[in-house]
Amino acid sequence: NADLDKTARTILIENDQGGYTIPTKGLYPYQWNWDSVFVALGFATFDQSRAWREIEMLFEGQWRDGMVPHILFRKDDPSYFPGPSVWGTDGGPIPSSGHSQPPVAATVIKDLVDADGSGKALERAVKLMPQLMNWHRWYLAYRDPKDLGVLAVIHPWESGRDNLPDWDEALRAVEVKDIGPYERKDTSHVDPAMRPHKEDYDRYLSIMAACRNVGWDPQKVAETCPFFVADPGVTFIFLRANRDLLILAERLGLDAEAEEVRGWIRKMEAGAKTLWNDELKAHVALNERTGRQTDGISSASFLAPYAGLADQTTLTSLQGHFDRIASKVRYLMPSYDPDHRNYEPLRYWRGPVWAMINYMIARGFAEAGDNERANRLRQDTADLIATGGFAEYFSPENGAGAGGGTFSWTAAIWLTWAS
Ligand code: DGY
Repeated sequence: NADLDKTARTILIENDQGGYTIPTKGLYPYQWNWDSVFVALGFATFDQSRAWREIEMLFEGQWRDGMVPHILFRKDDPSYFPGPSVWGTDGGPIPSSGHSQPPVAATVIKDLVDADGSGKALERAVKLMPQLMNWHRWYLAYRDPKDLGVLAVIHPWESGRDNLPDWDEALRAVEVKDIGPYERKDTSHVDPAMRPHKEDYDRYLSIMAACRNVGWDPQKVAETCPFFVADPGVTFIFLRANRDLLILAERLGLDAEAEEVRGWIRKMEAGAKTLWNDELKAHVALNERTGRQTDGISSASFLAPYAGLADQTTLTSLQGHFDRIASKVRYLMPSYDPDHRNYEPLRYWRGPVWAMINYMIARGFAEAGDNERANRLRQDTADLIATGGFAEYFSPENGAGAGGGTFSWTAAIWLTWAS
C-alpha cells in the first residue's frame, strides 16, 4: 500500500528532532528508549545511516553505571510531566529519567548489520559493542541481584507496559508519600479513559521519590525500591537480545565478550522457569518482594519463542492460548487476556494491541516454525493500521485507534513489515 508507506515515512520524518525521534507530538515530546530502537528499524527501510544515528543518540545518554535511561530530556518541554526536575537524576551526560526500558537494542543492531551489504554497519556496531555490553551487565547486576536468571523492573514504566494488570498488586503495596501536589499532562493530550488512573500516578511518583531519596544509586535502588517485579517482557526481550549480542560478538571476534554472553544466556534459559505458571501454562510476572506470581496472561507471555524458548510444552500451550484469545477478539494480540477480570480493551496496557509487540511475537512464532500464527499477527497489524491509522495502540475488539496519533513506532513497524 503505497499511500500508507508514504504516510509512515512522513510520520518518522516529522517526528525527527535532528537525529532522534519523538514517539508522538504532544503526549511524548522526548526521546524514549525502546521507541527509538523500533524507530531505527523503520528508518532502516529507507535511510540506514539515519537508523544508526537514532541508536547512537540513545546511547549518548548512557549513565556512568551502564544504564541506558528510558527517557532522554534533551530539551525542556513543559507539556510533559514528570520532567527532569521531578526525576532528579545525575547519573549520565544528558538529563534523563532514572530507570531503563526493554533492551531491544542489541537485536535491532544485529538486524541493521544483517541488512547492510557494505560493511559500514559493522563499523558502527563495533563502536556500540562496549556500550551494549555495559548496559546488559547493568541489567544483570541491578535488576537480578539475587541471580535468579530473570529481570525485574523497579517501576511499571521500566517494563514499557505501564499499567498492565500484572503490576496492580505490587503497585497497591507502594506507600503514597513524598509526592506533593502535581498536575498530570498526559490526560490533557488524550482521553483520560485511555490512560492510567490517578491512584496509579500517585504511586508512579512515590516510587520515583523513593529512588530519588537514595540518589538513584543502583545498588540501593535494587535493595530498597518499594516495587521490584520480575517481568517476562523485559526478561524475554533481554534473553533474545543476548542471543543477538552473542552473534555480533562472534562475528567481530570478541572472544571474551562472547564467552561472557554465553554464560548470561545459560543462566536466563534456566531462570525463565521461575516465571512459568503451572496452572495457566504460560510465563507470568513475579513480585520479588512477596514471591507471588501474577495470575494473568499478557502479550509478553507470547514472547517466549522470540526469546528462543520454544520447547514443545511452551509452544503448544501458547498456541492454545493464542487460538482461545483469537476466538474472543477480532484483532490480536491484546496486551492482556480478554478472559481475565482486569481486561479493559481501551485502557493503556490493560487490553489494547500494540504493533511492535505483534512484530516481536510474530517473529518468535515464525522462528519456531509456526508461520500460520505469525502471518495472522502480521495481517491483523496491517488491518488495524488500515482501520485505525498510525495510532499508539488499538482496540482488539473493533480496531479503533487510541492513545497518541501519528505514532512513530507504529509507522516503523508498518515499514518494517512492508519492506
Ligand atoms: C508516560 O509518561 O506515560 C510514559 O509512558 C512513561 O514512560
